[in-house]
Amino acid sequence: MGKDKLRKFKENETFRCLVQPRTEEVFRVDHPLKGHWGEKVFGNDRPVVVELGCGKGEYTIDLALRNPGCNYIGVDIKGARLWKGAKYAEEHSLPNVAFLRTRIEFITSLFAPGEVSEIWITFADPQIHREKKRLTSPLFMERYRDMLRGGGIVHLKTDSRYLHEYSVAMARQNGLGILAEATDIYGTDRERLYASPMLSVCGRDAVDALFEVQTFYESQYLAQGIPITYLSFVIDHAGPYLSPDWDEDRWER
Ligand SMILES: C[S@@+](CC[C@H](N)C(=O)[O-])C[C@H]1O[C@@H](n2cnc3c(N)ncnc32)[C@H](O)[C@@H]1O
Repeated sequence: MGKDKLRKFKENETFRCLVQPRTEEVFRVDHPLKGHWGEKVFGNDRPVVVELGCGKGEYTIDLALRNPGCNYIGVDIKGARLWKGAKYAEEHSLPNVAFLRTRIEFITSLFAPGEVSEIWITFADPQIHREKKRLTSPLFMERYRDMLRGGGIVHLKTDSRYLHEYSVAMARQNGLGILAEATDIYGTDRERLYASPMLSVCGRDAVDALFEVQTFYESQYLAQGIPITYLSFVIDHAGPYLSPDWDEDRWER
C-alpha cells in the first residue's frame, strides 16, 4: 500500500465524524449505532439522509451545508476516498455530517427501520449483467425498505443510461411512485423538475443541489459530454420487489 494511503488511513482513525465498523460488528449482527444515529452522533432527531457510494463525499458535504435542518451520512467502502470528505467535515466542524466506511450490503445492520428519510445514489457502477450487485436491484430495495421511513425517497443521479432505464423499469414493475425522471438534467427544463412533487424532506435547497453540485465522477462525465440522468421515487411497496421485465441489450453503459 502506498505511503499516502497509509497516512490517510491513519488520519481516518482520528476523525470523530468517521465511523469504521469492523466486519464482525456488522456481519449478521446489529451495530451499536443502529437506531441511535440521531442521539449518539448528531445530538438531535432531525431527518437522516444517506448517500450510498459517496466516494470523496462532495454531495454529502454540500447537501449538509445547504440544509442544516437535516443530518447527512456518506457511505463508502474506500477509506482513502472517504478521507477527503471526513477531513473537510472535521476541519470545518460540520455538525450535521458523518461518514461511514462499510459495504452497502451491511446497511441494515447499521440503520433501524424508519431511521433514514432519504437515500441518494450518486454515480454508482451500473453493474452491467450483475443485477444482484446493482444498487437499485430488488435485493437492495429490500434493504432500503428496511431502513427508510414510510414515504421515504430514493434519488438516483447517474451518467449510466443502462442504470437509469433499469431503475425506471424496476420502479414501474413494483408500482413505486416516481416523483421525477429526467434523462438529461442539464438539458431538461429545470422548471419541469422543480414542478415535480416535493423532491426532498430537506426542502428546495436539496433540489438546487441536483444542478449545482458536481461530484468527482460527475465532473469527469460532464467533461466528456455524457448526459446526466436523474430519477426519484418513493420506496413504499408491500411484498417482495420484482426484477423488471426490460430489454437490457438496448443500453450500452
Ligand atoms: C463510481 S464511484 C462514485 C463516487 C461518488 N459518488 C462520485 O460521484 O464521485 C462509486 C463509489 O461507490 C463505492 N462502492 C461501490 N460499491 C460499494 C459497496 N458495495 N459498498 C460500499 N461502497 C461501494 C466505491 O468505493 C466508489 O467510491
